[in-house]
Amino acid sequence: DRLPSVLHRMPKAELHIHIEGSLEPELIFKLAQRNGVRLPYPDVQALRAAYAFTDLQSFLDIYYAGASVLLKEEDFFDMAWAYLEKAAADNVVHAEIFFDPQTHTARGVSMGTVIRGLHHACQRAHQEWGISARLILCFLRHLSEAEAFETLEAALPYREHFIGVGLDSSEVGHPPEKFARVFARCRELGLHVVAHAGEEGPPAYIWQALDVLRVQRIDHGVQATCDPALMQRLAQTRVPLTVCPLSNVKLCVFPDLRRHNLRQLLDAGLCVTINSDDPAYFGGYLNDNFVQLFAALDLGPREAYQLALNSFEASFVDEATRRGWQ
Ligand code: ADE
Ligand code: ZN
Repeated sequence: DRLPSVLHRMPKAELHIHIEGSLEPELIFKLAQRNGVRLPYPDVQALRAAYAFTDLQSFLDIYYAGASVLLKEEDFFDMAWAYLEKAAADNVVHAEIFFDPQTHTARGVSMGTVIRGLHHACQRAHQEWGISARLILCFLRHLSEAEAFETLEAALPYREHFIGVGLDSSEVGHPPEKFARVFARCRELGLHVVAHAGEEGPPAYIWQALDVLRVQRIDHGVQATCDPALMQRLAQTRVPLTVCPLSNVKLCVFPDLRRHNLRQLLDAGLCVTINSDDPAYFGGYLNDNFVQLFAALDLGPREAYQLALNSFEASFVDEATRRGWQ
């Protein structure tokens, strides 16, 4: 079958990847040793065995524990470098990468350490492999809006190193409107704005992300199919959804890939894209998501082309650069 090879070889953009979610167990243990951090797991196999999630929160608890080994600029560099090497091998020509600074600043790591390490990896990956990579700073929605404002303030000295802001972490109980003022400020600053919405949370959170936060993309958004008026709005405006199929199955949003609603979203005319979310935790990088989803939903070359095209349409790269890739 030639389809997996087509999926592998086609140039694509990845727009929903949490860099802390690309931290493989082997690198977690290597960094723990290098930094003298004690982990609550004896070895790589024991850590991997804990990757049995029942919902978003059960994953987040382990994801934040894994990130505790990141202390130095070179740790952030090594993490991003490992992801970018895999992305380039998957023929990702452009990546917009989320990072969660509050996970690190809460442990006494400075904003500069985080951003400099990630930025240098993006720079070097462009030199080595020609991949373009940009950073998107995410606010943790289980924390307060005041803490999001403090985080923004701390990041502004590095304004040229990130292109936008996002909103992630525990969704239910933390609606987008909680962050209305900080997102308004970010828009004033000329930052791109995106938010996780409708992963586990209701369609109402997607409406709020659109109307209150005025986001340019919805991360996940798969719950939109429960709301016909919302589907119409998303189809008409083509506000993109960055969908993460393997993540949705691992976090029990869908019981298995064959039950995923991606075809329904595509057929309704939405600008959907395929992404890996937290590849080290969910069992696959971008091409694994494409190949497994295409097999499960019996998708073909037409859908492959549409999804690759959507990934560039949904990206924040300028028109001229985009034309060069398509
Ligand atoms: N942080 C990392 N992955 C996430 C996800 N899938 N949803 C919300 N927050 C996250
Ligand atoms: Zn995510």
